[in-house]
Amino acid sequence: MTGAAASAFDAAEYLPLVEARLSDLPEGLQEHISRSRAVGVDLCEIHGVDPDVVDLSLAAHDLYKAMDGDELLAEAGRRGWEADAVERALPFLLHGQVAALWLMQEAGIDEPSVIEAVTWHTTYAAKMGPVAALTFLADKIDPVKVQEWPGLQEVRDLSYKKRAEDAIELYLSRLITRLVENGDIAHSRTLDALNYLRLSRQALL
Ligand SMILES: [Fe+2]
Repeated sequence: MTGAAASAFDAAEYLPLVEARLSDLPEGLQEHISRSRAVGVDLCEIHGVDPDVVDLSLAAHDLYKAMDGDELLAEAGRRGWEADAVERALPFLLHGQVAALWLMQEAGIDEPSVIEAVTWHTTYAAKMGPVAALTFLADKIDPVKVQEWPGLQEVRDLSYKKRAEDAIELYLSRLITRLVENGDIAHSRTLDALNYLRLSRQALL
């Protein structure tokens, strides 16, 4: 993974705006966010990525996770997001997009690495940078999630061995397999992301 680009963006300056909203979230969600932030600190140290930027992304990523689906779809529309057919059917998929729109529209954050990290932390997407990669992994390998889905242990191990792309590729393939085998809907963006990682690894892009 390529290292973080030098940036004039001061993530710590914006953190209080996000943290002020966390206490309104359900307790279980607050606990997940704080566990993910702790994992994020570890991963940033291992991968040499700015911990403040990843921490801001993780603090914000689930700000809309507890919102009811219909409300979330309406909120996404109000904020200018044009939901696709899968997002309309499964509005919880929009909680990252809505959180990122809130960051831009209410908190005045326009740092692209934070916006892409928060926007795509659920389905992931092709061409993500290091902040999005570590935000995604730190969310998925929250130790409680690993306990609930033992298949994540290998994703965690790869993440801590500085193999973020491999960890994400493994996670995405397991996620798609699980969704498809269960008869659930998998967003095409997730498959695009997986294909992008595989093509990049095989130097086919
Ligand atoms: Fe999360």
